[in-house]
Amino acid sequence: MSAITEPTTLSSLPVVRGKLLDFPADPIRCMRELQRCHSDVAALEEAGSRLVFVFSPELNQKVLTDMRRFHARFFAVRGSKNSSQRRLTCGILSMNGEEHKRHRRLVAGPFQKQSILGYHADLVRQAEELAADWKPGQERDLDQDMNRFLLGVTSQILFGFDQRDLAYEIGLATERWVTLNHEIGMGALVADAGIAQNYDRLLHEAEGLEKLIRRMIELRRNASALSNDVLSLLIRARDDAGQGLSEAELIGQAAVLFGAAHLTTANSLTWTLFLLAQHPRVANELVEELRVELGGQAPTWEQLERLPRLERVIKESMRVLPASGYSQRITTEPVELGPLPVLAHTVVVFSQFMTHHRADQYPEPERFRPERWLSINPGPYAYMPFANGPRHCLGSYLALMIMKIALPVVLQRFCLQLVPNAAVNGKIVSTMLGPTNGVHVQILPPDAGFRRQPVRGNIHELVDLSDTDEVGAVAA
Ligand code: HEM
Repeated sequence: MSAITEPTTLSSLPVVRGKLLDFPADPIRCMRELQRCHSDVAALEEAGSRLVFVFSPELNQKVLTDMRRFHARFFAVRGSKNSSQRRLTCGILSMNGEEHKRHRRLVAGPFQKQSILGYHADLVRQAEELAADWKPGQERDLDQDMNRFLLGVTSQILFGFDQRDLAYEIGLATERWVTLNHEIGMGALVADAGIAQNYDRLLHEAEGLEKLIRRMIELRRNASALSNDVLSLLIRARDDAGQGLSEAELIGQAAVLFGAAHLTTANSLTWTLFLLAQHPRVANELVEELRVELGGQAPTWEQLERLPRLERVIKESMRVLPASGYSQRITTEPVELGPLPVLAHTVVVFSQFMTHHRADQYPEPERFRPERWLSINPGPYAYMPFANGPRHCLGSYLALMIMKIALPVVLQRFCLQLVPNAAVNGKIVSTMLGPTNGVHVQILPPDAGFRRQPVRGNIHELVDLSDTDEVGAVAA
């Protein structure tokens, strides 16, 4: 597949002709082809329609900070006015202007450090349950295990520890709904009627999901004791004028929060464990730090900030394989992006993956080298796994806390090795970069030693796994 059929005749402008649907079909390949022709900004054009891509930190900053000219439009399919689909897609990711500001203030409350502190003990318990499921000698699919782990964690943080089953059911329904939105939404993005055939299924899923969320809201409203799950906090939240969120607004926020939290964090954990398994020196040094600092225990709240190697490993993993691979905005008026004039109502894509892989920002960008963070300090639009600016991820602190608890719990109990010759493939689906057919590892006792294994698959196009322990062997 090639996105690009011929360079444009519009001489100096960075416009390339191709098929717009090549972008959702293989986002990374398409963006790489465009970036090869035009390193900072490029438009993909088909029959007069354009998708615009920015790749440089400077243009990322412009797109991410100019909230007036670049509106968020996360969901392409909004449904009719009074539909479940409309209510479920009206969360913060679809809001702009004053409405976004107001909701961001209300939604931010439950994700502040102080609120999150209250989840620490439950997160440790859940990470220990995950580790208790693993036995040396087993073969496991990390992707499946991290998804299940995050489904439990996210559903309970968002909806409550005392309603495990309903919370889990909402989680599963949200996952199905998010997937359908992607499949159909990409069709809508480029007006492809063929892809919209699942529209009825999407509306049906939306109705089912809304019913479940309404049931949970009712349970929370009628609960005798005050609960500290995010939904309960949102039900009680009030803005400066004393106004709370309506039922429809709560439904939209709940769905979006689940979608934003679950797969992104699961994929980040899967990629980090995969990269560690394939980089024995880095893994061994990290395990040594954990042994010395934690002595086999899960990190306390205070210790979370005192594990510098773990910090660097997570930073580097989220640089080289960022779970949020790209995101998009839509222009509200004509703008200029570098040399490219852009019309109103054009979709503009910015990509963490592409920016994080720029050689002018990160020498040997395809290599996983946590030690690079000892000497680099990239700007907020050159390193942006959680985006940046006025729409910076509200759950970044929570996501990092989940990772900083789960990784030490697992790595102090087990050593992981990829199943030799396993196929590992990664793709951006619905903006998220995740494995497409599992990441199969062998679970070994902690003293077995990490050993890099030969793996197949397109992972070699995303990250250079040939980096041996000898190359650049500086302490991580
Ligand atoms: C490793 C895990 C995560 C990653 C990589 C991630 C990444 C991102 C990114 C890139 C954005 C900006 C999207 C855009 O501007 O188009 C974002 C926004 C957001 N994220 Fe996360 N996220 C993660 C976890 C979470 C969690 C755990 C939550 C909360 C439950 C969360 C809640 C949000 C919300 C509410 C927004 C919208 C902010 C706004 O529009 O003002 N995220 N996230």
